[in-house]
Amino acid sequence: MKTTNPFPTSEYISPEFFCDRETELKQMIESIDNQRNITIISRRRLGKTALIKHCFHHLKKRKDISLHYFDIYATRNLNEFVNILSTALIGYFESKPEKILSQLIKMLGQFRPKLTFDELSGAPSVELSLQTQAETEQSLAAIFSYLAKQKQRVIIAIDEFQQITNYPEKNVEALLRTHIQANNNVNLIYSGSNRRMLISLFDDYARPFYQSTGFLFLEKIDPAQYKSFISKHFKNARRKISSDALSFILDWAQGHTYFVQEICNRVYSAGDTAIDIKDVKQVTLQILEERTPLYQVYQNMLTASQYALLKAIAFETNIDKPNSSVFLTKYKLGAASSVIRSLEALETKDLIFYENNIYSLTDIFLMRWLQRQ
Ligand SMILES: Nc1ncnc2c1ncn2[C@@H]1O[C@H](COP(=O)(O)OP(=O)(O)OP(=O)(O)O)[C@@H](O)[C@H]1O
Ligand SMILES: [Mg+2]
Repeated sequence: MKTTNPFPTSEYISPEFFCDRETELKQMIESIDNQRNITIISRRRLGKTALIKHCFHHLKKRKDISLHYFDIYATRNLNEFVNILSTALIGYFESKPEKILSQLIKMLGQFRPKLTFDELSGAPSVELSLQTQAETEQSLAAIFSYLAKQKQRVIIAIDEFQQITNYPEKNVEALLRTHIQANNNVNLIYSGSNRRMLISLFDDYARPFYQSTGFLFLEKIDPAQYKSFISKHFKNARRKISSDALSFILDWAQGHTYFVQEICNRVYSAGDTAIDIKDVKQVTLQILEERTPLYQVYQNMLTASQYALLKAIAFETNIDKPNSSVFLTKYKLGAASSVIRSLEALETKDLIFYENNIYSLTDIFLMRWLQRQ
């Protein structure tokens, strides 16, 4: 029989394959139980989405709440937001297709909803025919008034929430805020990685969402916890990973969830019964080799000074004063003013990010790859 690799690199599976986050889970459940909204913020791929799924997994047996998750990363306007929101909502309350349809008609009948089912997964999806902005706004109002009437309290998780700031319609924030605030049957979990954008959305008193949520700034998993989690899963498969190998993984991937998971997934799939540091190093080399064609593209995609700066930050692992003369001289980066421009460009391209007063690369594998060039 084929066993599941215990180190998933994309989807959340179950608590068994999820390391720690006990405190964060408690904080989320406490927010939900006390009718507070909460916003999860962290750098990319640290585990925001998995944490939401983990929390929902713990709450799924609760009869007093209904749980809905949707990701708005791919949406470009309010219209698409409404479609994806209705898709996330329907199908929860009813599971039979004919009942889903009657529920949909009750909720959004006037907007001529089209219900389709995914060929492979069978998952329902809703498309409303919304002609004007006024209709879009009315459909949103209809959804929230439907939710207000539910017996269960409604918890909606909106992943990549900062995306709403890119919608072309002018009053999106105010509109959403009005419905959310007016509806005391609905609580929200917001999540995203664009720290600056999310903080300004919720912490600028001129904006509608000002102070409408608590925060959960997700940090790296405690290394000791992560090591024992990894070790346990090898042991369960009657295999052993050495303590040196574990330390190497945590250090090389900087304890960053996705990168640790990716390495462990591959070490696991290699199948050795006794894993030592050299086996792990072998895997990390394979990963870098495999990604070389992707990473080589950056040299052409970026200007010479942006690429030089990216490489310099990679060499330093992280940097607090990128315009200091020591740093500029060491890597021959030229004038401070041009470095500032390059920093902005690299940040916009999501190649680097700024957190806790330091700049570092978003992709740890890219950082390791550049360090070897
Ligand atoms: N606590 C954990 N234990 C084990 N694996 C985890 C944990 N948290 C996240 N993961 C895994 O790490 C990977 C990245 O997590 P996830 O996609 O949740 O991050 P994210 O912060 O939502 O990323 P993005 O910013 O790209 O949306 C996934 O494969 C996920 O299953
Ligand atoms: Mg995510």
